Amino acid sequence: MTARTMRAIGIERPGGPEVLHMVEMPRPRAGAGEVVVRVLAAGVNRPDIRQRLGLYPPPPGASPLPGLDIAGIVDEVGPGVDGLRPGDAVCALANGGGYAQFCAVPALQCMPLPRGLTFAQAASLPEVFFTAWNNIVWLGRLARGETLLIQGGTSGVGLAGTQIARRLFDVTVIATAGAQEKCQVCLDFGAQHAIDYRGDWEAEVRRVTGGEGVDVVLDAQGGDYTQKHLDLLRFDGRVVLLGSHRSATTEVSTRAIAHRRLTLTGSTLRPRPPAYKGAIAAELVKHVWPLLEDGRIVTRIHAAFPWEEVRAAHGLLDRNEQVGKVVLLVEPALAATVPA
Ligand SMILES: NC(=O)c1ccc[n+]([C@@H]2O[C@H](COP(=O)([O-])OP(=O)(O)OC[C@H]3O[C@@H](n4cnc5c(N)ncnc54)[C@H](OP(=O)(O)O)[C@@H]3O)[C@@H](O)[C@H]2O)c1
Repeated sequence: MTARTMRAIGIERPGGPEVLHMVEMPRPRAGAGEVVVRVLAAGVNRPDIRQRLGLYPPPPGASPLPGLDIAGIVDEVGPGVDGLRPGDAVCALANGGGYAQFCAVPALQCMPLPRGLTFAQAASLPEVFFTAWNNIVWLGRLARGETLLIQGGTSGVGLAGTQIARRLFDVTVIATAGAQEKCQVCLDFGAQHAIDYRGDWEAEVRRVTGGEGVDVVLDAQGGDYTQKHLDLLRFDGRVVLLGSHRSATTEVSTRAIAHRRLTLTGSTLRPRPPAYKGAIAAELVKHVWPLLEDGRIVTRIHAAFPWEEVRAAHGLLDRNEQVGKVVLLVEPALAATVPA
């Protein structure tokens, strides 16, 4: 008989990593269009940190538990789901609730594991690749031959975005990072130029582009960066905002936008409906999964922790020490395996 309860990691109150606690709670059931996944590994993302701090409440109807990335085995299939069966190995973009032994997720948001990857590696993929695809390919409308500036090149989203841009669009990528070692990682992942953002990064972007600027900027900082980015854009350029860590408000020149036909846009992925996320999943499986399978795109796991050590995992992100992804191992032995 299916267990009625499960262990999960809950957020007791807004605060530091110490507010994360193992709790016992009812196991979720698969609703219409959903599957329940037995979670073997879960990714840790910046939105989890912001949720823990009380700055990113789950959207209505989503699990109150943190956790957007999961990899595991389908345990239960809800009504109206085609193409998935109990026992299937999947990774998925959850709407929350990934830090748990079981997670209910819309079937459209599930993907097969790329062949040859372990469950732990697969758990590092969904959130950052969905985000990079949504913002660079769909909103940024990146086109072959263009130049892309990625602020925060060694973030999970930055590394995914750099590889998508280089391997699928053959564009010039300029990435920024806050340390020389991190700049080197940007270059290792395919960026042609890496700039330390602690210096005069605007001047450096102008210099490496011969004064021409860039076509697309991927930015989670906002605030005072926004006008600087608009100033760096070529005609018809696009700035895509993923976050607003510097400030949520700023003043920009609307004249520059009109004169050079610029686009200032942005998005948050979490509240989008399953059909939208499912459409991204389908494009990732078609275009990115084959490259993950032959090694032309790779995932970089900075650290993997047994999930009982979730506070240490969050501490790494709090201190911004990670380069790439941090993963929680819910069932460590199975998480290290590659499904048959
Ligand atoms: N809108 C959405 O749907 C969505 C979804 C997921 C994530 N996000 C956002 O996307 C971003 C990346 O997320 P993540 O989880 O992959 O990585 P992350 O761990 O949040 O990485 C933060 C990045 O910001 C960089 N950074 C910090 N200060 C900076 C500055 N002054 N100038 C330029 N870059 C700076 C850091 O660079 P260093 O490490 O080199 O200091 C690091 O690469 C986050 O801001 C997250 O909130 C948005």
